[in-house]
Amino acid sequence: MLPAEYRIRLMEPTDYAPLGEICRRVYPHDQPYSPAELAEHRVVYPQGQFVAEHVPSRTAVGGHFTLRLHLADYHLDDPWDVLTAKGTFSDHHPAGHTLYGADVFVSPDHQHHGLAHALTDATRELVVAERLWRMVGASRLPGYAAVANTVPADRYIREVVAGTRTDPVLSAHLKDGWQVVKAIHGYLQNDLESGNWAAVIQWVNPNGPPPAGEALPPTIGGSP
Ligand SMILES: CC(C)(COP(=O)(O)OP(=O)(O)OC[C@H]1O[C@@H](n2cnc3c(N)ncnc32)[C@H](O)[C@@H]1OP(=O)(O)O)[C@@H](O)C(=O)NCCC(=O)NCCS
Repeated sequence: MLPAEYRIRLMEPTDYAPLGEICRRVYPHDQPYSPAELAEHRVVYPQGQFVAEHVPSRTAVGGHFTLRLHLADYHLDDPWDVLTAKGTFSDHHPAGHTLYGADVFVSPDHQHHGLAHALTDATRELVVAERLWRMVGASRLPGYAAVANTVPADRYIREVVAGTRTDPVLSAHLKDGWQVVKAIHGYLQNDLESGNWAAVIQWVNPNGPPPAGEALPPTIGGSP
């Protein structure tokens, strides 16, 4: 499924500069990851930092960064800064049952080649390999700001889940098998296209029963 000129692998130091450059393009209102931050992610949880490489140019063209969390210590709708310890991943919990998807992005020059899908598959293989319960993340809603004056965020999300509306990011996540838990406001600080709204999403490991005392939250448009 992944075109032959790409491969998914773990992040290496030579990836820091191109990944920062991609972030500058896809998140123009945010500070891109610095080389020091990406190096710290590799120290904290190296097996959770994935990149998509364009093989002919040996360049990273996308990334998916994860950490393990003990989510009972948080609220599912906490903002990104809280869940990632301001992007440092210093809150990574080696025994956490949940793989938290802190970010997935692909260079605009390489989108629509299945790279986000392949990166997400790699994170799911990690969930299975480490016998985790589930993966959780939050989807941006870049189509939302344009209709925010007339459509409440939870209705927008329900319509995207139902397939009567398309969002450039949430629709792609839904095709990748994620389920939506709820709408949250203020997940990211400067996501103007999303009107600062996002959707909490989860994927449950079919072979990973819930840890004692924990239960899955209900999802929109389907059971967990
Ligand atoms: C969201 C994002 C990561 C998707 O990356 P991507 O690599 O283009 O995603 P994929 O190629 O796996 O899937 C995207 C679309 O391409 C289609 N596609 C996949 N392989 C394809 C191929 N070989 N040829 C044509 N189309 C293809 C998919 O079906 C999907 O269709 P859809 O948009 O109608 O749902 C990317 O748009 C991005 O980086 N956005 C900016 C950053 C961002 O918002 N990240 C999300 C944070 S929550």
